Amino acid sequence: MSETLDELIAAARDAASRAYAPYSSFHVGAALLLKNGDIVTGANVENASYGLTLCAETAAIAKIANEGWIGELAEVAIVGGRPDGDALIGSDPVNPCGRCRQILNEAAERSKTDILVHCASGDGKEIRTYRLSQLLPAAFGPKDLGLID
Ligand code: THU
Repeated sequence: MSETLDELIAAARDAASRAYAPYSSFHVGAALLLKNGDIVTGANVENASYGLTLCAETAAIAKIANEGWIGELAEVAIVGGRPDGDALIGSDPVNPCGRCRQILNEAAERSKTDILVHCASGDGKEIRTYRLSQLLPAAFGPKDLGLID
């Protein structure tokens, strides 16, 4: 595993510790690696109305978009599980939900990169890596609206 991937997953894990998830008790952290090597993170933000919950990936993408960096995305790492003290429990990698795949696609198209998406388990023992195009084939995005070549 490359040092960058270790670092990216550690950043996602750290972000998960700041999740606001009192309803599901499932803490998710997302770490976005930008083309310049910077890492921007987000964690899930739940809501009493349940359906208005923001996923970790969405929170992180909102941060880079608001900084003007939506076209700077290179890779994403996602970690999730149930908290147990400082650790996360869970042996299955967390896959991004459908809405997050679409939201990631916006930044990926703007970044002209079929980004790597690293999905890690809470216990850290398993990591599955995909291209976003595997997770969201034939995506609809800004290119379909003529905004990108
Ligand atoms: N969650 C994420 O943050 N990202 C995903 O891609 C999947 C689900 C969150 C939403 C909710 O707070 C919790 O995980 C349980 O569904």
